[in-house]
Amino acid sequence: MFEISNRLKKIPPYLFVEIDRKKKELITKGEDVIDFGVGDPDLPTPENIIIAMKKGVENPKFHKYPFGKGTKEFRKAISDFYKKNYDVDIDPESEICVLIGSKEGIAHFPLCFINQGDISLVPEPGYPVYNIGTLIAGGKSYFLPLKEENDFLPDLGKIPEEIIKKTKIIYLNYPNNPTGSFANKDFLKDVINFCKKNNIILAYDAAYSEIYFEEKPINIFSIDGAKDVTIEFNSLSKTYNMTGWRVGWACGNSFLVNALAKIKENIDSGTFEAIQYAGIEALKGSQESVEKMRSIYKKRRDIFASGLKELGFNFKLPKGTFYFWVKVNKSSVEFVDFLLENGKIVSTPGVGFGPSGEGYVRFSLTIDEEKIKKAIDRMKKIWQK
Ligand SMILES: Cc1ncc(COP(=O)(O)O)c(C=O)c1O
Repeated sequence: MFEISNRLKKIPPYLFVEIDRKKKELITKGEDVIDFGVGDPDLPTPENIIIAMKKGVENPKFHKYPFGKGTKEFRKAISDFYKKNYDVDIDPESEICVLIGSKEGIAHFPLCFINQGDISLVPEPGYPVYNIGTLIAGGKSYFLPLKEENDFLPDLGKIPEEIIKKTKIIYLNYPNNPTGSFANKDFLKDVINFCKKNNIILAYDAAYSEIYFEEKPINIFSIDGAKDVTIEFNSLSKTYNMTGWRVGWACGNSFLVNALAKIKENIDSGTFEAIQYAGIEALKGSQESVEKMRSIYKKRRDIFASGLKELGFNFKLPKGTFYFWVKVNKSSVEFVDFLLENGKIVSTPGVGFGPSGEGYVRFSLTIDEEKIKKAIDRMKKIWQK
């Protein structure tokens, strides 16, 4: 019989399969399930982007292989987005590579720099692709716990010297999935110094950069010297409700960006140019929908927070993203099971994002206010009986 590769064998099973099975079973039974599980926006892609896409699809020029690092026009729009939003300079010619969603770039990036046995520093709880991409490339992950008492920032001082010596990449993600936390300027400065001192690449995942509430997150390239060591990943997925469109980018240090472009040249043939055309409209057109999205998620966050408070839960109010990270002080899997069985509410066990996520549960606020209120009512019925 065929045997799967050692590489594929190393990839851990998808932890949320069992919850998904139970959820589907309840839906089949006709139960009214409230789903805080998947981090996929419920809001539609803004109309102006859809109109641009329709126009793009009709243009035969866009029907060919896209190839290369993306269209000149889309890369220019990305560069303008950084200048306008963060006053940061990114050269559209040499410092941007368009991706098929940021996940694609994050997963392929270790193939450029990781040799057998090399190490990536991977925050946990965190997005699983940093570890998986490293494993596929033949490397190993050294996990950096994100603890609440440290504002969900990793403690770089605790990484052993022998690990640092073998490290090629450190991954960071702020605004953070799943904790909703931000990185402060001092921490980011420390990270850049750490990377420079130890010749380590910073792979900065900014997928949620535009989902913030009280304050705007810091862009990594506004830190002195960041571009010497950093590649940033971002996409249109969360900012413009375009998760299904599959379009993102990597930007920053040109050596790093071009290495990724070389791997991609040999694996995929780029992002459909009609999508890149619509992407220009997303970044350059009216940003009213982005403002509106922020206020919708903020309202949902506040409704959920006040409900959780009444129920006596412990949490740090998320500063950004549409996630809510709640301390449950017991097995996160048991808590999630209990909530599904008794309240028909789907949530995600924190331990699925890494061992430091144990004792926490993630709620994705990608459902409307009425459903959030309904979920809180059900939780009150369960716990205030
Ligand atoms: C932290 C983080 N990074 C990256 C991504 C990938 O997003 P996309 O591939 O749609 O750009 C996600 C998606 O959920 C995410 O949560």
